[in-house]
Amino acid sequence: MVWSSLIALSLSAASLALQTSLLVQDEPAELFDVKVPVVLGVMSKCPDAIMCESVFDRVVSTVSDRIDFSLSYVAQLNESEPEYGVTCKHGPEECAGNIQQLCVAKYEPLSKWWEFVQCHNYQGREQIGKPDVALRCANTAKIDWEGSGIAGCVGSDVSGKTEEGIQLLKQSLKETRHLNVVKSCTVVINGYKVCVRDDYTWKECEAGHAPKDFIRQINEEYRRLNSDSNRLEDNDE
Ligand SMILES: *[C@@H]1O[C@H](CO)[C@@H](O)[C@H](O)[C@H]1NC(C)=O
Repeated sequence: MVWSSLIALSLSAASLALQTSLLVQDEPAELFDVKVPVVLGVMSKCPDAIMCESVFDRVVSTVSDRIDFSLSYVAQLNESEPEYGVTCKHGPEECAGNIQQLCVAKYEPLSKWWEFVQCHNYQGREQIGKPDVALRCANTAKIDWEGSGIAGCVGSDVSGKTEEGIQLLKQSLKETRHLNVVKSCTVVINGYKVCVRDDYTWKECEAGHAPKDFIRQINEEYRRLNSDSNRLEDNDE
């Protein structure tokens, strides 16, 4: 027993060292960088959110390695709701769509999760939340539905009415409240609300609302977060 666990330990230490050296060779400067938190406050069946997410498709593909990107959902906690305990503006099917996206985000890397969300949107907002659409989009994004844990998260009827799924949605609503976000879609970069898309109109977007404007703002925050003075401040704490 002792020998075998010693061998296992040294093997895993060796493979860790190997992985680390490979990583260092690939991206020496970016290994320990600070990513910019970027959050979109959304509702899965909201046309303004779909618009926002299509603008962000260009943003994500350009700066994916510099951001810590997530969607945070806008809905109301409501004990009287029989299905989710949450009122989603566009009905229970939107709660299902939100949870499907949250489950994919939990178990898949950014690229696959984002492809899943884009596929959802491409089907049209009436389709978002339906079980067969979720499964089709999982296929499109080459997601291992069963093996990844997503199947358990959304449940066998893909409605998201599982303990895990509902928990994820309620946790997301808490984060939305923390960010002070009430409108779908709200763009939050490093904690700052920089733009809102509401009633088919861009509002409060002082630094612009095109992909290049968000990319510029993210790059600025990235430089600030990773400047030497910030690193020293971090060390002092
Ligand atoms: C809470 O849910 C009940 C039952 O669906 C609904 O009638 C009511 O309007 C909801 N309240 C809010 C504030 O959304």
